[in-house]
Amino acid sequence: MTAVIQIEDAWKTYRVRDQDVDALAGVDLAVGPGEWLAVCGPSGSGKTTLLNVAIGLDRPTQGTINLFGRDLNAMRQEALARFRADCVGIVFQDPLLLPGLTALENVVASRLPHSRWKSLERRAREILDMVGLGQRLNFAPSRLSGGERQRVAIARSLVGGPRLLVADEPTGQLDAESTVRLLDLIESLKVQLGFTFVVVTHDPIVAARAGRIVSLHAGRVSA
Ligand SMILES: Nc1ncnc2c1ncn2[C@@H]1O[C@H](COP(=O)(O)OP(=O)(O)OP(=O)(O)O)[C@@H](O)[C@H]1O
Ligand SMILES: [Mg+2]
Repeated sequence: MTAVIQIEDAWKTYRVRDQDVDALAGVDLAVGPGEWLAVCGPSGSGKTTLLNVAIGLDRPTQGTINLFGRDLNAMRQEALARFRADCVGIVFQDPLLLPGLTALENVVASRLPHSRWKSLERRAREILDMVGLGQRLNFAPSRLSGGERQRVAIARSLVGGPRLLVADEPTGQLDAESTVRLLDLIESLKVQLGFTFVVVTHDPIVAARAGRIVSLHAGRVSA
């Protein structure tokens, strides 16, 4: 079966004031369909860089990145962006909702260039219902709790039906109780929708829920 993510010998080198900084220093990583993988490691170890490179938000300095069997190095920026929008959902630490839009509008607006309004709105309502916000569709972000805002962000990331969900510190702004609730939600969505899940986290509560943990240190995967 084709790997969801297949990374071979990935390097990402930044030049900072005449000094080379290897954010990634020869990373090999394969993620299979249906996996729940946590990427852990100290601050600055390269977690965000790895995630961004894996989904083509950033290009490696060297190395091969395959996403659902496509070689990202061989794809032009625009085709890559379209491909990513079709198969990857992304959640960040900050939900980054548009403050002037309701929960429903935030989810719909994220996909507007891709789908028709009517079917999209139906799908957005369904997914907001699945994340427990069926009664909050017309709430502005300012009237939602931090946990609810992050659930809107989850709905937004899943409305296009991605086969891969990636999240960078998705619980970084949540307390322990909201973290557990968000993880329960993602777990149940994963069962229902069947996506692969890769999460970057510092939080042992989050890592403990993963099927597999990969640790990064100074841009390298450690055992
Ligand atoms: N645009 C950039 N220019 C220069 N150096 C960078 C850049 N982006 C990242 N780095 C460096 O690459 C290394 C890895 O950064 P990265 O953001 O991937 O770490 P991280 O593990 O996600 O850290 P954190 O847990 O704090 O989010 C760090 O040393 C960082 O300073
Ligand atoms: Mg980071």
